Amino acid sequence: MKWTTRKLRNLKTKQDRKKLTMLTCYDFQTASALNQSNIDLILVGDSLGNVVLGYETTCQVSIEEMITFGSAVKRGAPDKFTVIDMPFGSYASEDLALKNGILLFQKTGAEALKLEGANDKILKAVDALISTGIPVVGHIGLTPQFFHQQGGYFTHGKTKEEKNLLLDQAKKLEQAGVSLLVLECVTTELSQMITDELSIPTIGIGSGNVTDGQVLVINDLLGEGPKAPPSFCRPVKNFYQEKLDAIDAFINEANKQVTKNKGDQSEYENIYN
Ligand code: KIV
Repeated sequence: MKWTTRKLRNLKTKQDRKKLTMLTCYDFQTASALNQSNIDLILVGDSLGNVVLGYETTCQVSIEEMITFGSAVKRGAPDKFTVIDMPFGSYASEDLALKNGILLFQKTGAEALKLEGANDKILKAVDALISTGIPVVGHIGLTPQFFHQQGGYFTHGKTKEEKNLLLDQAKKLEQAGVSLLVLECVTTELSQMITDELSIPTIGIGSGNVTDGQVLVINDLLGEGPKAPPSFCRPVKNFYQEKLDAIDAFINEANKQVTKNKGDQSEYENIYN
């Protein structure tokens, strides 16, 4: 089924609904596989800064990079509802949000843009985008673009004050018109409270199994990185090891060929016809 903003916003009125599934994606080939799959939603997360570009934090990701990777994903997955992250600083004011949001939305063909946080400035940016016709996804709890202010990666919503603040942020984002709300590393108790309170779907990552949907960074799910993924993600594959094995196999095979074909290039002719 092809999701639309309207279907997503009405999801909670449906009986017997399944959990929404969302995976991140950053490239054309993975997007093509996701396009063939039953995944509901794709997120071109600014986590591409960590897993694809090797930056230390997502704060280093630029709008140009989000356009390049977002467009590649959309070319591979034209049938999927695709959300693209607005990167750090690109919505620091209403004017910037509009300028960058319109650019990102038009150049990539995304179905929605995602912004982190819910302070007054961000709520104004969300409002400006939505009133222009750009669907927006919210994201609260652990918000990596605020890494330097939050002081690390940890679970949010443990104290009463934090709970009240996050619940209030969730309600304000809903009122501002977001279509979905991502809850990252929020306690299961608070995830449940927010999910019960809101009429729009919540999508959790590291926030228990009580949200309306789940999202994971695909590289974590596939075990693609040199380091272990966050503790809430249980990888289903070890692609990193498989890559090492494939590289070794290639080297061994190539070494055998060099010896066998010394002085004879005929085997390599016309391969690229
Ligand atoms: O950038 C990202 O991948 C995200 C997910 C972790 C939700 O925002």
